[in-house]
Amino acid sequence: ASATPPPPKATVSQYACQRRTTTENNNKTLTDAFEVLADSYELNEMEGPCLAFRRAVSVLKSLPWAVKSLETAQDLPCLGEHSKAVMKEILQYGHSFEVEKTLSDERYQTLKLFTSVFGVGPKTADKWYRRGLRSFSEVLTDSSIQLNRMQQSGFLHYGDISRAVSKAEARALRSIIDEAVHVITPDAVLALTGGFRRGKEFGHDVDFIVTTPEPGEEETLLPKIMNRLTKQGILLFSDYQTSTFEMSKLPCHRFEAMDHFAKCFLILRLEASKVEGGLHLAEGDSRGWRAVRVDLVSPPMERYAFALLGWTGSRQFERDLRRFARMERRMLLDNHALYDKTKKEFLAATTEKDIFAHLGLEYIEPWQRNA
Ligand code: CTP
Ligand code: MN
Ligand code: MN
Ligand code: MN
Repeated sequence: ASATPPPPKATVSQYACQRRTTTENNNKTLTDAFEVLADSYELNEMEGPCLAFRRAVSVLKSLPWAVKSLETAQDLPCLGEHSKAVMKEILQYGHSFEVEKTLSDERYQTLKLFTSVFGVGPKTADKWYRRGLRSFSEVLTDSSIQLNRMQQSGFLHYGDISRAVSKAEARALRSIIDEAVHVITPDAVLALTGGFRRGKEFGHDVDFIVTTPEPGEEETLLPKIMNRLTKQGILLFSDYQTSTFEMSKLPCHRFEAMDHFAKCFLILRLEASKVEGGLHLAEGDSRGWRAVRVDLVSPPMERYAFALLGWTGSRQFERDLRRFARMERRMLLDNHALYDKTKKEFLAATTEKDIFAHLGLEYIEPWQRNA
């Protein structure tokens, strides 16, 4: 008689959408180190190595155990020669020479500082760096530099918006947006999305989807909300992008970072009195308000499930959902739709579960998408 075969070793998928990743990270020392290298490659526009480290970070974040030796990491996907070498150094000496060197690099430090300002991307940061600028005061006193509106607000509210937003603050903002949107349309739908929907305790902003069942009405929703916030005196900054969504232009074959729905990037004034337990401010800061970044996106109701899935994140989870769809299913997924290239047709969905089912994936809850 044949012996019972040993239980199969639990294999970890190379796709984040086939892993369950909570906010609990058992490999923070390693992922922090890898993230430094990924950021550094990103700032130098080296997409390949950047993505390799981001994938390695994501795999490590999904593990219910801490990697303590290279041997135990042997069967994990997405760990290449380079990430294994860095991992070896950290496991052996507690730190990596390459990561330390990157952290003390002047260009890395300056680009990280500049890109931490709302409205400043890698291109602008690099331009300032090449001009010899190294600090905010040098940027702000350089007469040849013209800051755009977003960057001006970014500097003006720098202290507040570089400070994490708490769950209590996110809840308070939800009430404010909820009230505004229901005054405008009683049957409006509001959903919290982004990191807070994934159960994070803190975020860099608060993301919401707003829509209404009345087709076309969603297009005027955001300007109306912004109007109301202005009248309340709490809209400190807004960048509104009108909808360029057209079903007839789908599917988009090339990768796009942005979707075509109407959206706005805001800075709101949040009063301490509205937040249960008070504002999340620095020790000794006793102001009665703070500035907070808020993103609103407004898809047509019929596109709601795709927008919700796309805006819930994490970024790595989204990347791998799309990669899985393309590589494993010959399908194209984005924030607007799911297209089957074999059947040459769009697949309808009213919930996120429908989309996972079309893709032949087990449903992953939002709090398991912290890839
Ligand atoms: N997103 C998007 N299009 C944009 C901006 C964001 O599709 N123009 C998506 C991102 O892919 C991400 C989600 O919206 O999955 C939320 O983005 P963001 O607020 O930047 O990140 P969070 O995951 O919410 O993390 P944080 O707590 O730092 O805000
Ligand atoms: Mn967010
Ligand atoms: Mn956001
Ligand atoms: Mn497009």
